Amino acid sequence: MATSTDHGPRLVTRHSHLLANYARAEINFVRGEGVYLFDESGNRYLDLVAGIAVCALGHAHPRITRAIADQAARLVHVSNLYHHEPAGTLADRLAQLAGFDAVFFCNSGAEANEAAIKLARKHAFRNGETKRTSILAANGSFHGRTFGALSATDNPKYKEGFEPLPAGFAFTPFNNIEALERAIDETTACFLVEPVQGESGVVPATAEFLRAARRICDERGALLIFDEVQCGMGRLGRLFASQLYGVVPDAFTLAKSLANGLPIGALLIRGAAVGALRPGDHGTTFGGSPVPAAAALEHLNVRDALDLDTHVAAAGTLLRDELAAIARDWPEVFAAPRGHGLMLGLPVYKPTIAAAFVAPALDEGLLINAAGRNTLRFIPPLIISADEIRDAMSRLRRTIARVLAAPSAS
Ligand SMILES: Cc1ncc(COP(=O)(O)O)c(C=O)c1O
Repeated sequence: MATSTDHGPRLVTRHSHLLANYARAEINFVRGEGVYLFDESGNRYLDLVAGIAVCALGHAHPRITRAIADQAARLVHVSNLYHHEPAGTLADRLAQLAGFDAVFFCNSGAEANEAAIKLARKHAFRNGETKRTSILAANGSFHGRTFGALSATDNPKYKEGFEPLPAGFAFTPFNNIEALERAIDETTACFLVEPVQGESGVVPATAEFLRAARRICDERGALLIFDEVQCGMGRLGRLFASQLYGVVPDAFTLAKSLANGLPIGALLIRGAAVGALRPGDHGTTFGGSPVPAAAALEHLNVRDALDLDTHVAAAGTLLRDELAAIARDWPEVFAAPRGHGLMLGLPVYKPTIAAAFVAPALDEGLLINAAGRNTLRFIPPLIISADEIRDAMSRLRRTIARVLAAPSAS
């Protein structure tokens, strides 16, 4: 179907042996460049999803591509039995940027959170506190799909049919300080929390809640651990979410955009907890291997060169203003946007659901995403320009008008 953005027909080559555990959109991407993706028919799409908050510097950034190619030509893998330059240097850089003491590398967000959970339990164990085993998480949380991370994830839909899950996980209402006071006690190993909940629809923690979490964890001897897998690495306008909130956890996790698209996760640790995991306690074959580590290092270099935090603050304000204008223009459909920096959500009310906009947006050459509590989630490449934001919002407005004009929307 030709549209106002001159998109031609979209051919979709089918790959019938991919396990059907995703509801993949009917589109086959072959190439990316900056904030744009191209399908196999040559249609161009403005990408406000960025591989789910992964491609912070956009697609095929030339400096990342070169760093990957150079490292691949030198050394791809040696295992964690030995030192190598990219992981060592990346650990130094991250530790120095965060003011933390030690870094564990793995391959994904779920794995980083598994390591965080194991860290919390082993830390208590080494302190002789064998009853301090409970992992407290927040309602609305998403920490990943592996058994430990899944057990700390609130959404029952992800757990159904996988029980029994590991014991020793508890939940407390997000942004509720009185409940947190009651929930953290001498059995709590850690409070694991996302500074901005992404999968449940871009719901930011209040600064008061995170400050109270810091105080209560200190008073009761529990670790405070932030999951910055989605909201870290500059997405909120500061390199780390903890810096935006001014609350320093004992440990925090990163993944997603750390290597701008190559698989890597990280657990950063400070203070006494650093000694909890000793040789043999935890590990992974590929974690922090040379190529993703080299890409992550170059990501940090490019961020500095672009002064990305300043850019994200300005671009985030523009995107939020544009979304607020959309909410004002369709007050019966959308609520005011929420979030920080370039991690924004636009809540959707009746007469439709957020997911109803996603496929029609493709026909306008726009990639958007629906998350959690009926929310459109905007997590574009952090390099997106003001003109690209305005262009994206024109496409979104055309999409909204079309969806709401369709008979099924009312
Ligand atoms: C906050 C958060 N933690 C953990 C994860 C899991 O990361 P991964 O999919 O890399 O395992 C995600 C993924 O969306 C996430 O948003």
